Amino acid sequence: MKKLFLIMSLSLGTVGLYSQNSKIPSSVKNVEAKVDSVLNLMTLEEKVGQMIQYNGSWDLTGPASETGNKQKEDRLKKGLVGSMLNVLSVEATEKAQRLNMENSRIKIPLIFGYDVIHGYKTIFPVPLGETASWDMEAAEESARIAALESVAEGVNWTFSPMIDISRDARWGRIMEGSGEDPYLTSRIAVAKVKGYQGDDLSDPRTIAATAKHFAGYGLAEGGKDYNAVNIGKNELHNVVLPPFKAAADAGVATFMNSFNTIDGIPATGSASLQRDILKGAWDWTGFMVSDWGSIAEMIPHGFATDKVHAAEIAVKAGSDMDMEGGAYEAGLEKLVAEGKVDETLIDDAVRRILRVKFKMGLFEDPYKYNDAELLASVPYEDHKATARDIAKKSIVLLKNENDLLPIKSSVKKIAVIGPLANDKDTPIGNWRAQGEANSAVSVLEGLKNTVDTSTEITYSKGVTLGQGERSFLMPLNINKDDRSGISEAVENAKSAELVIMVLGEDAFQSGEGRSQANIGLAGLQKELLKEIYKVNKNIALVLINGRPMEITWSAENIPAIVEAWQLGSESGNAIADVLRGKYNPSGKLPVSFPRAVGQEPLYYNRKNTGRPSSAEHVTYSHYTDITNGALYPFGFGLSYTDFEYAKPVISSNELKTGEEITLSVKLTNSGDTAGKEVVQLYLRDMVASTTRPIKELKGFELVQLEPGESKEVEFTIDENMLKFYSASEKWEAENGEFEIMVGGNSEDVQSVNFNFSK
Ligand code: NOJ
Repeated sequence: MKKLFLIMSLSLGTVGLYSQNSKIPSSVKNVEAKVDSVLNLMTLEEKVGQMIQYNGSWDLTGPASETGNKQKEDRLKKGLVGSMLNVLSVEATEKAQRLNMENSRIKIPLIFGYDVIHGYKTIFPVPLGETASWDMEAAEESARIAALESVAEGVNWTFSPMIDISRDARWGRIMEGSGEDPYLTSRIAVAKVKGYQGDDLSDPRTIAATAKHFAGYGLAEGGKDYNAVNIGKNELHNVVLPPFKAAADAGVATFMNSFNTIDGIPATGSASLQRDILKGAWDWTGFMVSDWGSIAEMIPHGFATDKVHAAEIAVKAGSDMDMEGGAYEAGLEKLVAEGKVDETLIDDAVRRILRVKFKMGLFEDPYKYNDAELLASVPYEDHKATARDIAKKSIVLLKNENDLLPIKSSVKKIAVIGPLANDKDTPIGNWRAQGEANSAVSVLEGLKNTVDTSTEITYSKGVTLGQGERSFLMPLNINKDDRSGISEAVENAKSAELVIMVLGEDAFQSGEGRSQANIGLAGLQKELLKEIYKVNKNIALVLINGRPMEITWSAENIPAIVEAWQLGSESGNAIADVLRGKYNPSGKLPVSFPRAVGQEPLYYNRKNTGRPSSAEHVTYSHYTDITNGALYPFGFGLSYTDFEYAKPVISSNELKTGEEITLSVKLTNSGDTAGKEVVQLYLRDMVASTTRPIKELKGFELVQLEPGESKEVEFTIDENMLKFYSASEKWEAENGEFEIMVGGNSEDVQSVNFNFSK
């Protein structure tokens, strides 16, 4: 299957962009020379072809039935397509590559993109859930595994990681990202890029990654998908851009722009974002793919008159490849011919695309990802074990009154109740790539796998949640009136010593286009929970969901609550590991859980306002009908053991440019179980040229301690940590007083102050 492709004769005499600069490594110089050589051989039509990406949902080998598809196939044969998405399997990708390579004049290999968001076949926790592990090695490892499983099936480019900061639980896509914090998301961005791309993109076991969506998409007004984003430069640079900068610095191969407008300009048509910031100030050399049809969507945005106009705006703004939008196909050649678009812009885009293809080694062997031997060697069983390990680390214990959990060995009768208790599909979540439907281990199965046989486990569904056919594109049909299973569940609960209720969201309740005005337990779930509570109060509530939920009643009444997200293939086993105490939960929330949906957008790193509080009157920043702050704050998560923080010690109260000071704190495991704590470091700039958040995460460390054991945890503070996008529109630190805080979540912190001067 694997064939060596003879590289086309390259006119290596052409001098590339970097070739005069002796500081550039020769491997890079070589790539640049090769890119230019190929570019010199190309007609304008072929160059524009590289900038077009087609969806592959048509029969690539048989006769194409629809006219549109026939046209696509013809263009593929002429070498007028740069990439395809959603073409899967060794055979299908090879067929498409052959159509291109064996028929086209120019013979530039295609790359194959796909949404590999949290695993390819082996499914890991949804990204929001995985981030709750705060474990960068885990985040890197799941990406490495996803990369291997993808390339083994011919897919060599993933549209991941999604690193949009999102502060609104109503936004359905909050599940795809890492939550509300720029620092944590930046760390995840780097881990993911490393995991997907490894050290060398030409290694056939790695996959090209995409930092998306550039930019601001997660701050859609009202949490409504595709909605306008109205933020200024301060928020853009301090909140939205840091993870993208981190991904660019980590060498991510591609970026994807976004559907939203930002301050009135569609991101896809924003030269300031794409040309000035990303490709200018950051000097990033990869290519920008549009989001699906986002170039042509500038027409309904009211920003472009037609596809040709949209193409003109997008190419000038720096969008290099048109994902299934038809705008570049309709417009670019015409625009160059009419002199409206300079061909150097097209050359820049094509150079970027070719650069990635060269780095992937596709010119040496366009069939390198069509390797049946590699596929046969993928250790899927080992991947399952890793998926279980990462899943258990992602679970967050929210409440555990009277140590109801872990389940005591004396408990001999457990009732497992709820629509998600034996659901093998929901844990697979949305954006499931090739994760098989109904393939997850359910909670019921997981418990049966781990509980000794002398314990009786009964199961009642109680109510259904989503009913009928479910899919990525279809609206979800929630059960609002079928109560027929409730009485049996109540009977079951009556005779049990412990009830494990498994509630939450359907797999397709969060994700793209899945914004919700309500974020509580949908359908009849709350009613079921209350009915069970009437007869048995020993309830451990396990939540399976993709977004933060409004669970205030449960938090007030139910003794134990476990946030288990959509944990992927091994979900039930991982949950059982935690419920049984085989794993002591260590996850911490990457996002705030609200007391009511009306608090959204809700985030810990907010501004203080001029009226943060008042004991005497109502004229301060709050809602009169609810306590300020989150129900469960960012960074929060309990353990089966207790951790004690001693008073933090700072090495000096003065920090100067070029120097470092340290903050250290002694952490002790004062309980009787071994456990892991995520020690978090927050910072506040007390007075600055723009207002600054009341605190921002600046560091964290995972610390594993045996009972009675202590560890001194040390953080280094330098000028870099204090930098922000200032009123002078520079990334800089300003002189003055800072508060540095340390603790086990964003609210329970101890602080010390210091001064910084340049
Ligand atoms: C639209 C989504 O916004 C994007 O994230 C995804 O990668 C593309 N569709 C391709 O499926």
